Amino acid sequence: MSDPVAATVAAPHEGTEATPEPRELFGLLVEFKHEDDLLAACRRVRDAGFSKWDAHSPYPVHGIDAAIGIRPTILPWIVFAGGFAGMLGGLLLQWWTNTVDYAWVVSGKPYFSLPANIPIIFEMTILFAAFGAVFGMLALNGLPKLYHAAFHSRRFRRVTDDRFFICIEAADPRFREAETRALLESLAGDAVERIEERGHTDPPKLIMHVGLVAACLALLPLALAARAWYSKSTLPRIHPILNMDQQEKFKAQRAHPLFADGRAMRPPVEGTVARADLHLLGEDDHYYYGKIDGEWATTLPQRLRADVPGLLERGRERFAIFCAPCHGMDGSGNGPVRLRSDELGMPLVVKAMHEDAVRERQLGHLFNIISNGINTMPPYGDQVPVRDRWAIVSYVRALQRSQLATTADLSEEQRAERQRRRSGND
Ligand code: HEC
Repeated sequence: MSDPVAATVAAPHEGTEATPEPRELFGLLVEFKHEDDLLAACRRVRDAGFSKWDAHSPYPVHGIDAAIGIRPTILPWIVFAGGFAGMLGGLLLQWWTNTVDYAWVVSGKPYFSLPANIPIIFEMTILFAAFGAVFGMLALNGLPKLYHAAFHSRRFRRVTDDRFFICIEAADPRFREAETRALLESLAGDAVERIEERGHTDPPKLIMHVGLVAACLALLPLALAARAWYSKSTLPRIHPILNMDQQEKFKAQRAHPLFADGRAMRPPVEGTVARADLHLLGEDDHYYYGKIDGEWATTLPQRLRADVPGLLERGRERFAIFCAPCHGMDGSGNGPVRLRSDELGMPLVVKAMHEDAVRERQLGHLFNIISNGINTMPPYGDQVPVRDRWAIVSYVRALQRSQLATTADLSEEQRAERQRRRSGND
C-alpha cells in the first residue's frame, strides 16, 4: 500500500479480523433440495416442540404456515381497530369543530348532520386502516431485517436461488446441541451446519456514501420551500395550472377598444325587453317597489294574500339562508358573522329586528331595505327574487311580533299548560 491515507483507513479493519473474538453459537442450519422435504421436516421440528426456529425458502411455500405451526395473524384485527379509530376520529373531529369549536350557521342548516360528514369519515377510516395494515405488519414481522446470523454461512446464500433451509436457534429452551443435531440429521436434509454469532458487518462504503448524498439531496426541495416561505418577492407566484384563473375578460362599466363606441358593456339590442320580472313604472309599484302613491306601503301586496302561512314558511327558510348569518336566527343581531367580527376586533354593528326603530318601519320600507340595503348592510335584491323578499318581510314581522307576545296571545290550552308548568316548578 503506497497511499498512506488508505493504509491508516484500512488498518483498524484488518486489526479486528486478526483477533478472533469468542463466538457464541447462534443455532443449527440444515439444507434441503426439495420443497416437500422442507415441509416434512418442518412438521417434525414443530412436533418436537421447538419454538425459536424458522424455515427459509426462495419463494412462498404452500402450507408452510401450518407445517411450522404459525398461528393465524392478528393483523386483520389491527386493521379493523385502525379503521374503527379512523371512523370515530373523523366523526368526532367534524362534530367537535362544527358544533363546539367553530359553530357556524350556514343557510340555517343544522350544525351537525351525518350525511354531510360521511366523505371525511370514509377517508379517515381507509387511511387509518391502511396505517394499521402497514405499520401493524412491520411491527408483527419485524421487517426490515438487515442482518441474520445465517448470512455467515456460504451454503445459506442459495436460499434466494434453489435451496431450502431450517434454522433452529440455540436460544430455544429445547435446544441441546447434540440432540438437536441428531434430529436434524435424521431429516432428509443435506448437511447440518453450526451457525455462530459474529455480529453484523457494516454495509459497503459505497452504499453508505451514496445514501448520505441521497439524503442531502432529499433535503434540497425542503430547503428551497423554506427559503421561499421566508423571502419576499415582487414577482407573481408560480401558477402552473392556470385553469381559467387569468383570462381576458370585459368588466362592466369599463372602456374597451374592441367596440366602436369604446364601451366594454353592451347595451341590449334596440327595442328588446327582458321578459323575467317585466314591470313598467306605475305597474304595481306596491309589489315591485313597496310603494303606494310614493309612500311606503303598510300592507302586503294583493297578489300575495291568498296563502299567508305558505308565505311565512318560505320567509322563515329564506331568512335563515340570507339574513341569519348576520342577524341571527332570532333576529337579535347575534349571527355568526357578527360574533366572528367581534372576535377579530372589527365589530360589525348589526341592528336587531326588535329595536323600536326597526319595528316601526313600514312593510314597504323593509322590502326596500332587503332590495337596496341600508347604511352598512349590503343589498340582496340581486339574490332574492321579489316574491321571496316579501316572504322575508312577512317573516320579519312575525319574528318581531313573537318577541312582544303576551299572555293574551296564548290559546286556552296554552294558558292552562303554562299554569300547570308554573305550579309544577314552585
Ligand atoms: C352581511 C350582514 C348582513 C346580512 C346578511 C343582512 N343584514 Fe340586515 N343589517 C346589517 C347591518 C350591518 C345593519 C345595520 C345597518 C345600519 O348601520 O343601519 C342591518 C340592518 C338591518 C335592518 C334595520 C335597518 C333599519 O335601519 O331599520 C333590517 C330591517 C335588516 N337589516 C334586515 C335584513 C334582512 C331581512 C336580511 C336578509 C335578507 C338582512 N338584513 C341581511 C347586516 C346584514
